[in-house]
Amino acid sequence: MTEIRRLLVQAFEGGFSEDDWEHTIGGWHVVVADGGVALSHAAVVPRVLEVADRPLHAGYVEGVATAPVRQRQGLGSLAMAEVSELLRSEFEMGALSTGLHGFYARPGWERWQGPTFVRRSSEAIRTEEEDDGVVVLRFGPSKDIDLTAPLSCEGRRGDDWQRRCAGSERILFLFLAVG
Ligand SMILES: CC(C)(COP(=O)(O)OP(=O)(O)OC[C@H]1O[C@@H](n2cnc3c(N)ncnc32)[C@H](O)[C@@H]1OP(=O)(O)O)[C@@H](O)C(=O)NCCC(=O)NCCS
Repeated sequence: MTEIRRLLVQAFEGGFSEDDWEHTIGGWHVVVADGGVALSHAAVVPRVLEVADRPLHAGYVEGVATAPVRQRQGLGSLAMAEVSELLRSEFEMGALSTGLHGFYARPGWERWQGPTFVRRSSEAIRTEEEDDGVVVLRFGPSKDIDLTAPLSCEGRRGDDWQRRCAGSERILFLFLAVG
């Protein structure tokens, strides 16, 4: 975990806070490692997202990063391919928030086109500023969901959609050896 944290701090160039770390741990972690050194990472945490009024058991992807000196060598894509497998086996859909749409579009992630909301108590509060960032991976139970429908997440401390996640109990490391 120390290695993963070091990697995230490096890759986000000082933009990765203590809070960010706390919200990144506690789910599944895909780690691409070479010689025991973590080079690329992506975490998946469970969240209930509602498409219109339909709750879906989503895997929310957080902490996607590749060590700066190893970027643009396909390692992030390798981690995301493994994440995709994990999502398909454990969840009903994938989701994340990003500004790097190109990176996720190639492996099949799609931009959400409808309005986004956060659920607090019984209220759904509009998160208009997040609309452009949310992308989803549809498959199985979610393959036919309407990308223009309202989409909501449960509220949490800090940013509701961005690069944060609630802790859970299970941690699974998947190590991939690369040359
Ligand atoms: C985003 C990030 C994880 C990508 O990792 P990576 O290992 O370099 O990704 P890959 O080499 O697999 O890239 C695959 C493709 O995604 C796209 N891509 C990757 N990084 C990109 C970037 N910074 N800007 C635009 N497109 C990018 C390119 O199309 C690339 O293919 P190409 O190199 O043939 O042009 C890495 O740049 C990173 O750690 N960035 C800092 C942290 C961050 O912003 N994380 C994402 C938060 S949502």
